[in-house]
Amino acid sequence: MAIKFGIIGTGIMGVAGGRIIQLMENAEIVALAEPVMARLKPAANEFSVKAVFSDYREMLEKEPLDAVYVATPDTIHTDPVIDSLNAGCHVLVEKPMTTSQADSERVFDAVKRTGKKFQINFNHRWLSPYHKIKEMISAGQLGEPIIGYARKNNPIYVPTEMLASWAKHSSPAWFMSSHDIDLMTWWFDAIPVEVYARGVKRVLKQRDWDTYDGIQSMVTYDNGQFATFEAAWIYPNSSPYMPDSFMEVIGTSGSTQINRQAEAIDAIVEEKFVCPRTFLNYKVFEHWQGAMPACVKSFLYAIEHDTEPHVNVIDGVKNTAILDAIHRSLASGKPEKITLSLIRS
Ligand SMILES: NC(=O)c1ccc[n+]([C@@H]2O[C@H](COP(=O)([O-])OP(=O)(O)OC[C@H]3O[C@@H](n4cnc5c(N)ncnc54)[C@H](O)[C@@H]3O)[C@@H](O)[C@H]2O)c1
Repeated sequence: MAIKFGIIGTGIMGVAGGRIIQLMENAEIVALAEPVMARLKPAANEFSVKAVFSDYREMLEKEPLDAVYVATPDTIHTDPVIDSLNAGCHVLVEKPMTTSQADSERVFDAVKRTGKKFQINFNHRWLSPYHKIKEMISAGQLGEPIIGYARKNNPIYVPTEMLASWAKHSSPAWFMSSHDIDLMTWWFDAIPVEVYARGVKRVLKQRDWDTYDGIQSMVTYDNGQFATFEAAWIYPNSSPYMPDSFMEVIGTSGSTQINRQAEAIDAIVEEKFVCPRTFLNYKVFEHWQGAMPACVKSFLYAIEHDTEPHVNVIDGVKNTAILDAIHRSLASGKPEKITLSLIRS
């Protein structure tokens, strides 16, 4: 029997995820919830779904769903996730899981109480090179990983056009570094204890987007390992990179780097130099390939075989706690401690 999905939020990711779910043999989209009609209608047409709602709570009340994909803006994940779990649905939620540590703990409670499968779409974990680094670290090939660096920078059209309606409520760290922080914390297999961050608001503020142009943050983990995360979203729109992405881990007896700037293709076309992206989500003949479809497939596997999802609520709590501390440090100008009593207990 196909797993019946509802999608909350039919913007860029809701539609991208819907296209993947639609082609899975063991899943079907049966309902959509989205307050903006101009986004709901085309999605309903594309997925041939009749059960459409402007309020997701009505969808959860009326539709017998097995699973929900939450693809709302960064700051609007918590309530749809908790309400979906309470309605008896398994949940796949977009990153970041929540945008406050208190909310991440509410999600943790709901997952534990309902026992439903819960996975965050930190799809980079399914990208082979990142997975290979995890395997090398686990096999001891780098010794103990002790220093990390990650950069994920985007052109300015990302906050000002692509995410125009909500970028000012988020930040480049929530939107971009969240992926790198998930990977590094997974690689280090460690508990974050302290964060020191600096950010600047100048270019976007001048254009009335009151959010950071860029943030650099240093996260210290419980054995003294540390990693620096950079995220900026003010590159000129002529940048071929979307994103300009690089990661490095230095261990006690080895080091490794991943340069994902160009995703393998350099192309010169009439208007500019471009690097088309294919690694995360790309249709090859009749099937979607890449990290995102692999992540969705893995979520379906966890539901069908009653296994623990590979990015679970504890990963989400750690990730949000780091990002929450980054934003506290930006506000205070000082290092901020991370207390994760929920994970240690
Ligand atoms: N995993 C990844 O690789 C990846 C990539 C890009 C974005 N994201 C994340 O996906 C999420 C969505 O991003 P996006 O680019 O699709 O944004 P988007 O603005 O294109 O889409 C969000 C949609 O949610 C709708 N929405 C807002 N409030 C709602 C509510 N209460 N109920 C139902 N729908 C509601 C909006 O109207 C909009 O259509 C964000 O959290 C973002 O960070 C993840």
